[in-house]
Amino acid sequence: MADSLWRNHILPFTFLVGLLAACTLAGDYLLHRLNLVWVGRYLGIPGTILIIGSLIYSLRKRKFITAGNPKSLLTLHEFGTWLGSLMVLIHAGIHFNAILPWLATVAMGINVISGMVGKLLLDQSRRHVQGQREHFQLRGLSKSEVEKAVFWDAVTLDAMNQWRRVHIPIFVVFAVLALGHIASIFLFWSWS
Ligand code: HEM
Repeated sequence: MADSLWRNHILPFTFLVGLLAACTLAGDYLLHRLNLVWVGRYLGIPGTILIIGSLIYSLRKRKFITAGNPKSLLTLHEFGTWLGSLMVLIHAGIHFNAILPWLATVAMGINVISGMVGKLLLDQSRRHVQGQREHFQLRGLSKSEVEKAVFWDAVTLDAMNQWRRVHIPIFVVFAVLALGHIASIFLFWSWS
């Protein structure tokens, strides 16, 4: 039991956080080595677009849009925000010019890490819902109907609700700080 918790939850989490840190350091090192620091300066733009694009999941979940498979959109959210955050982290680099962008970076870091914690909790909840899935199958529902019936249940389990206390509010903090940073760049535009 403890072994599977370690193997199925703690290890993948540590790996994903470690990979993010390693890729950030490697990316920053390479850009400096290849004299491409300017690329890092602009990497904040595609990174931000990727993070915003990944929030389509939220629009789907809250029924602002009805197209798209929620499960695939959630996978897109997890992958897109991870990759977008990597780009933003390389963009932030080790340069320290102002406090606001660093506060935004810290908020984003908490967002990504809490997202990964949530994903692992979600995995755990999915296993709980597996029982429900079998129950629906026994009642003769089709495969896609069963998937639809249990998906939101998995998402609303207690563990997820606990985790949302961090992930969603910190998103608001992150969004405000990032907007402040972006606004200040446009106000004092002097890139060369
Ligand atoms: C910059 C980074 C991130 C931001 C700004 C962000 C933002 C959000 C927001 C606003 C929601 C709420 C959706 C809603 O209820 O309407 C959400 C949900 C979620 N996020 Fe993230 N997220 C980020 C990174 C991640 C990462 C890296 C993962 C996992 C690898 C992740 C996994 C999830 C999951 C599993 C849900 C919830 C599913 C649900 O309760 O419906 N997030 N995220």
